[in-house]
Amino acid sequence: MKITVVGTGYVGLVLGTCMADMGHEVTCVDNDEDKITALLAGRVPIYEPGLDQLIERNVREGRLAFTRNLVGALGLSRIVFVAVGTPSLPDGSADLSGIFAVAREVATTAEGDVTLILKSTVPVGTADAVRGVLAGLARHPFRVVSNPEFLKEGAAIDDFLRPDRIVCGVDSEEARTLMEALYAPLVRTGKPILFMDNRSAELCKYAANAFLATRISFINEIAQLCERVGADVDAVRRGAGADSRIGTRFFFPGAGYGGSCFPKDVRALVDTARQAGMEMEVVKAVEAVNERQKHVLADYVFAAFGPDLSGKRVAIWGLAFKPETDDMREAPSLVVIDRLLAAGAEVVVYDPEAMHEARRSLGDRVTWARRPMDAADSADALVLVTEWNEFRSPDFVALRARMRTAALFDGRNIWNPAEARAAGFAYRCIGRP
Ligand SMILES: NC(=O)c1ccc[n+]([C@@H]2O[C@H](COP(=O)([O-])OP(=O)(O)OC[C@H]3O[C@@H](n4cnc5c(N)ncnc54)[C@H](O)[C@@H]3O)[C@@H](O)[C@H]2O)c1
Repeated sequence: MKITVVGTGYVGLVLGTCMADMGHEVTCVDNDEDKITALLAGRVPIYEPGLDQLIERNVREGRLAFTRNLVGALGLSRIVFVAVGTPSLPDGSADLSGIFAVAREVATTAEGDVTLILKSTVPVGTADAVRGVLAGLARHPFRVVSNPEFLKEGAAIDDFLRPDRIVCGVDSEEARTLMEALYAPLVRTGKPILFMDNRSAELCKYAANAFLATRISFINEIAQLCERVGADVDAVRRGAGADSRIGTRFFFPGAGYGGSCFPKDVRALVDTARQAGMEMEVVKAVEAVNERQKHVLADYVFAAFGPDLSGKRVAIWGLAFKPETDDMREAPSLVVIDRLLAAGAEVVVYDPEAMHEARRSLGDRVTWARRPMDAADSADALVLVTEWNEFRSPDFVALRARMRTAALFDGRNIWNPAEARAAGFAYRCIGRP
């Protein structure tokens, strides 16, 4: 099939590339000139493991192309995935301007019938609103499908190709048949395509993300309680998670969730509910707990050194909101760094992949280290914010020798407290003694 994907970010680029790899002819469209220029020159503008080789192969074999020209792409294809960003507006609602801009352009320029597949995470009612826009402008028949994406950055290709489920909100048999054909190669293992109405499909995505965020805020709050009552959150999470109704996956305390999805989707869900005349008390609390949790690591540093950090050098390991991505959107590291800088600290940072992205917001307010051990040189404290694999087994004795003061703050509980302390460190982590 000939497919157009609008929006070549973390979702659109993975979707377009994987669809090309399944044999379709895909044109990826973006209005960001720099992105398209980079892609045309063979550079991948984001870090996602395995994506560069997959893009290279599909471009070489002529199945994957990039352009800024949506109208030109539409001339080739009648199946249009929309994967543009839907960031938070100041009031917490989702900014749908990109979605409607694409819908209007498709409506006014398509030369035949079109199926618009909404891949972006969009609030309940968006498909209906898009239908309204198309009805007013389009000269040809159209279909609007809600097809939210559930991939995780860092494992995006595998998640896309081996999904737990595919959710499709449709309002016609034709749309259902098309989605079955598009996704047939991905469901041979028996994982379902769940067909439903558009509104339910839209809400599925928010319910899933809000629930995952709830697990994180819940275990973070339990971790805080553990510290106050002398319990070990690691034992508690294993003991509680052993119940098969709860499970141990995605149930780890840390420095708070970030990224391009959970924070904005939690806020947008609260906004959707408010517009429908109700307050989502659980979901609101999830966000409030997370905001507090993002400050915990900085609080630990202040507890150890006092509120004035002038003359102190603090090393940060890990900037991205999670490992295996360069995505810095709403990363907890930014909150930690802001507070340390405001208290007068010199902050030295290292991340394996996100330094380029992080430079946009941190600029020259921090010092950039080329290796983890360089960041630790003469530092008074080392704060681990993102648990990249390369941080998991440091040589604690060598690390101690590089630092001026032996203070370790482990924001992801990846280190063994006894081992760190045996090397002479004052070691603090989240909810464990
Ligand atoms: N990142 C994830 O892990 C993830 C997972 C599931 C769902 N989602 C959802 O998918 C959507 C996209 O997320 P993302 O992380 O890929 O975003 P992103 O910001 O990485 O990419 C969005 C792209 O859309 C482009 N764009 C915006 N408006 C456009 C327009 N009018 N015409 C053409 N291009 C336009 C931008 O230039 C950008 O390259 C969001 O709704 C997000 O919530 C994201």
